Amino acid sequence: MIILAIDTSFDDTAVAVVSDTTILSSVLSTDLSAHLEYGGVVPRLARASHEANIDGVISLALIRAHLTWKEIDRIAVTQGPGLSICLGVGIAKAKELAKKYTKPLIPVNHLEGHLLSFLAKRKQKISSNNELVHDEHIFPLLGIILSGGNTQFVHAKKIGEYTIVGKTLDDAMGEAYDKIGRMLGLGYPAGPFLEKIAREGIPGSVTFPVPMRQTHTADMSFSGLKTAASRIIAAHPDLDRQTIANIAFAFQTSAIKHLTEKLEKAIEGREISALVVGGGVIKNLEVRKALRSFGKRHGLPVFFPYSPRLCTDNAAMIGVAALSHTPTTDDFDRQPNFTLEQVS
Ligand code: KG4
Repeated sequence: MIILAIDTSFDDTAVAVVSDTTILSSVLSTDLSAHLEYGGVVPRLARASHEANIDGVISLALIRAHLTWKEIDRIAVTQGPGLSICLGVGIAKAKELAKKYTKPLIPVNHLEGHLLSFLAKRKQKISSNNELVHDEHIFPLLGIILSGGNTQFVHAKKIGEYTIVGKTLDDAMGEAYDKIGRMLGLGYPAGPFLEKIAREGIPGSVTFPVPMRQTHTADMSFSGLKTAASRIIAAHPDLDRQTIANIAFAFQTSAIKHLTEKLEKAIEGREISALVVGGGVIKNLEVRKALRSFGKRHGLPVFFPYSPRLCTDNAAMIGVAALSHTPTTDDFDRQPNFTLEQVS
């Protein structure tokens, strides 16, 4: 099954061609410079950039896959969650192309893409996580989605049967990295810069609270860390490099502690055979290390996407998620708040 997948849920215009779970091409166009001066993504600028780039990105994805429209079996497109006006660009283009080339359409949940991104494999790779999907031993699994817009724990009995067992009540983990990084003058998106400078931090020089220790649920909260950061920054008017590093280190330590403490709650009393991780924040090596050692402590294998490019937004994961869905008629619309529990 060869699928051309489109994702315009946020600021990246992403198009990929997959043959089952093998990635034949994956192209991304991001115009970050347009958003930089605002310190975050401006929806109308993102939409303009999707509109300007989408045709070129689709052509390039086909060229890189060495395929023409004739060989494409289906078109998949992100239906949500995401920025409404941005989702609209991808959906309109997918419908237009489906009509023009008479291809079946599959709307996909962006978070299901992140969740299943570990299944995607590189072209010409002989064995990979792909075989796992046929291996019932990885189910039921616990998915950990850590992206710029979402942070949640998802219990999956099988593909398409999802229960959210914990989620952030306010900011996503990536958002906290971005907002605190911005306060520290680290640019946008700040996650990777914050991770890097945190390596120079002196443990114990600054402390952040660990959120929600009193609650017994697996829900999380990252906005208190933002408040703690602004308090600490206000107390250090001359923010030198060492102080920035100390704050970054302390924030990251608390955020990861919070995540793993809540992950304990998420697996408590649940039948789980594996942990599956997706989303931009898992590019972070400290987060990966913490999740790997969590898995080891609990005797659970932990599966990550094979490449960092599959962690942040991309369309290959949308193509892979589309494999387990049947095509629909083209009367579907965007769902900016589409949850995993609404996936059928
Ligand atoms: O998955 P993604 O593209 O976002 C959504 O789909 O919402 O991930 C982007 C997020 C940003 O918040 C970015 O700062 C964060 O992932 N991120 C990181 C790192 N690399 C990317 N956060 C922490 N450490 C990193 N190394």
